[in-house]
Amino acid sequence: MPRAATVFACSACGHESPKWHGRCPGCGEWNTLAEERRAAAPSRRRARGALRPVALGEVEAPRVDRLRTGIGELDRVLGGGLVPGSLVLIGGSPGIGKSTLTTGALGNLAAGGRRVLYVSGEESAAQVKLRAERLGPAALSVPIIAETELETVLATIDAERPDVCVVDSVQVLYDPALSGSPGSVAQVREVAGRLMRLGKERGVAVILVGHVTKEGAIAGPRVLEHLVDCVLSFEGERERTYRTLRALKNRFGSTNEVGVFEMHERGLVEVADASARFVTEATRAPGSVVLCAMEGSRPLLVEVQALVAPSELVPPRRVANGVDRNRLALVLAVLARHGGVSLGGSDVFVSVAGGVRVDEPGADLAIALALASAAKGVGLGDEKPLAAFGELGLTGELRHVAHADRRIAEAEKFGLHGVLRPDDRTRTLREALRSLGRSGRARAA
Ligand SMILES: Nc1ncnc2c1ncn2[C@@H]1O[C@H](COP(=O)(O)OP(=O)(O)OP(=O)(O)O)[C@@H](O)[C@H]1O
Ligand SMILES: [Mg+2]
Repeated sequence: MPRAATVFACSACGHESPKWHGRCPGCGEWNTLAEERRAAAPSRRRARGALRPVALGEVEAPRVDRLRTGIGELDRVLGGGLVPGSLVLIGGSPGIGKSTLTTGALGNLAAGGRRVLYVSGEESAAQVKLRAERLGPAALSVPIIAETELETVLATIDAERPDVCVVDSVQVLYDPALSGSPGSVAQVREVAGRLMRLGKERGVAVILVGHVTKEGAIAGPRVLEHLVDCVLSFEGERERTYRTLRALKNRFGSTNEVGVFEMHERGLVEVADASARFVTEATRAPGSVVLCAMEGSRPLLVEVQALVAPSELVPPRRVANGVDRNRLALVLAVLARHGGVSLGGSDVFVSVAGGVRVDEPGADLAIALALASAAKGVGLGDEKPLAAFGELGLTGELRHVAHADRRIAEAEKFGLHGVLRPDDRTRTLREALRSLGRSGRARAA
């Protein structure tokens, strides 16, 4: 006999437990379990009978054109535009520009003759209008409802049948039939699930805006990430102007693409040629090296900066901005063991200028060179900054990374010749450090 049950659900991972725990048995987070009531399970329905499977080749799949949002960087990250009927989740920390980006996209779609709808649960229609005034006339033509009740939102989408609908945000919508406050696991899951079903049935592409926790995960259960077709993460620091948009999951495209934006008075402006920005900003001071990184299919030059200072702390500080902490630890260990640069008694700071994140092993060599240069107080490069890329192996060897030719071509485009990289002459970190000294590239500070 089915009965209504009380379960305790984790707000971080969605794990459910019949009793309360201080620490989630699923993900190990503390104080994340909250009580939720489950409706009685419906009694089992009669099956509709067996289906006849169809060979994939015979499945009818009409070619559908992607919906271009007119924001090039967003379209690229989506894999060439929005797929009709798909469900996309955009996560980002408060104030990063999620509403600005989605309003701008809807404005462009509306200007291109598409039907759009903006569901604002967080801000009143008047507040959204103020933002749209900044963004220009296209954004002002976007129809909006300010509503948080799920049924009303679903009914409106059903009546309006937009091509694209933005729900800002998934955490504030709620279904009064369920217990639990808006944003709880059960509510978020229900809201996303119902929107997905309606979207797929009616061919409405739905963009859900989601908040992220201070740890950087998209708030609400991870089940949301399984449910949606595409998870985009909008990153950057609020104080800095650069923002990056990357796909963490994409059923319709690569997850390697990254879009770079800048927040302006008139909204988010795409930075189509990010390399140019970062190279002109690069200094040739000690501790600065230009990294030829790959962001998806696109090469990107970014400046890696390092600072090494005497420390009074045990253990000394290791601060990494824009690079992985573990990667930094590895580079420091290899530098000490195989490069003759031991920084055990120093505070070490490494940051990628412009607030960009690089998550690839190809950054190792540039980080190592920036650290060595900072430690010695010697600037690298001649009249142009030094560019480098390559992975460091644990035995101090330099390892090849993908797309070497495209990285070099990008550097040369900006006049950075003689990119230091793994090749026949430079096979180890020691050789890389030595070749800098020998070629006379290193300038005394
Ligand atoms: N006039 C302006 N000129 C430049 N930047 C502005 C201006 N007005 C607002 N901004 C920027 O826009 C950001 C807010 O953008 P937006 O509201 O789209 O963010 P959000 O991610 O939706 O935030 P929330 O999580 O609060 O919904 C602010 O952090 C600010 O940097
Ligand atoms: Mg917002």
